[in-house]
Amino acid sequence: MNAPNGLPDLSHLWMPFTANRHFKSQPRLLASAKGMYYTSVDGRHILDGTSGLWCVNAGHCRDEIAQAIARQAASLDYAPGFQLGHPQAFEAASAVAGIMPAGLDRIFFTNSGSESVDTALKIALAYHRARGDAQRTRLIGRERGYHGVGFGGISVGGISPNRKTFSGALLPAVDHLPHTHSLEHNAFSKGQPAWGAHLADELERIVALHDPSTIAAVIVEPMAGSTGVLVPPQGYLQRLRDITAKYGILLIFDEVITGYGRLGAATASECFGVTPDLITMAKGISNAAVPAGAVAVKRDVHDAIVNGAPGGIEFFHGYTYSAHPLATAAILATLDIYRREDLFARARKLAPAFEAAAHSLQGAPNVIDVRNIGLVAGIELAPRKDAPGARAAEAFHKCFDSGLMVRYTGDTLAVSPPLIIEEAQIDQIFQSIGNVLKEIA
Ligand SMILES: Cc1ncc(COP(=O)(O)O)c(C=O)c1O
Repeated sequence: MNAPNGLPDLSHLWMPFTANRHFKSQPRLLASAKGMYYTSVDGRHILDGTSGLWCVNAGHCRDEIAQAIARQAASLDYAPGFQLGHPQAFEAASAVAGIMPAGLDRIFFTNSGSESVDTALKIALAYHRARGDAQRTRLIGRERGYHGVGFGGISVGGISPNRKTFSGALLPAVDHLPHTHSLEHNAFSKGQPAWGAHLADELERIVALHDPSTIAAVIVEPMAGSTGVLVPPQGYLQRLRDITAKYGILLIFDEVITGYGRLGAATASECFGVTPDLITMAKGISNAAVPAGAVAVKRDVHDAIVNGAPGGIEFFHGYTYSAHPLATAAILATLDIYRREDLFARARKLAPAFEAAAHSLQGAPNVIDVRNIGLVAGIELAPRKDAPGARAAEAFHKCFDSGLMVRYTGDTLAVSPPLIIEEAQIDQIFQSIGNVLKEIA
């Protein structure tokens, strides 16, 4: 039933990662979306500076995707994925494999980034067990990493509010690399910062402590998004690759944000020239039109598990909705748009203009860092005394009220627009942020 203000009853929905009481006292509801814009329930157009939640990479409400989903819903609404299949599931897996780095051509479908992460961690354990290395169970994540909200993901993740409530129930054998953020050395870096490759060597210390024979996998976001846009230092990822390869440890890149064009290539792996053993993805895989995710797995990792099993089911894992027909329809239509419109290359071409516009905020009130790569930027604000995060929260609200959607985490604003953005809209985003920062104490 609608309340007198015309809004629905807000009391029943427990909102995720939201200050529920504050939101419900000042609700911000979106009614529709098209291209680069949302429209709010009060009829305002809001420029989408964040691709929704880093996921609507081809822009909103693309007709081709909507039609593909509608056709699929009318012809095959659901097909069990256990011991049965449907042709589009295999076509979608081939299409995803076709844009992954060479060798990562075995695809396991999930419904979200969190599920992709937990799936990848399980594949890592299953791989070592299949090879007679069942004692390799330790997982290494990184401070400030975000890998979703499953118990596996929060265990290897490094964001303390996401962990502390559940600290007694996290996975037991997990260590963390140090994060790579340093204002002292890297503030206002453009692209990959020069300082910090040596932080990967901390992995050697962890390996020496536990012995390589106990370690299954290292998981990192090649560019850490949710924690506030941490771009990998030059050479850092290659060092992680070298060390993991040396000790037979699997390397997992969590590309839930970086996959599908954000950095100007299909994957961050391609962009940085470093190939992991597994890639987790979600978000841009379906342009967020239907929840979908996947793990791309190196063929020998897959083969060790699948060909190594005695018979019967080889991997006891999967979801009712793995390769759901609506998801596979959305994935195929989305990948088609990326290819036809060459959107990854478009992101790459726009990146210099995006970088220049982002760094024009250097010198704006309270800005202590701007960092960027591809079509993503982080603008870090000085925290208010005794109120960390408050300044960025106020900026977020003021941006929204002025017609721009950004994200904030801690005191960092994040910008990650759809790859269809025009240069004038890039300027508009950073000018709007600059104007808002002038209004904020
Ligand atoms: C790197 C990374 N991994 C995993 C996730 C979790 O994805 P989901 O919210 O779809 O479960 C996210 C979400 O932002 C992410 O950025």
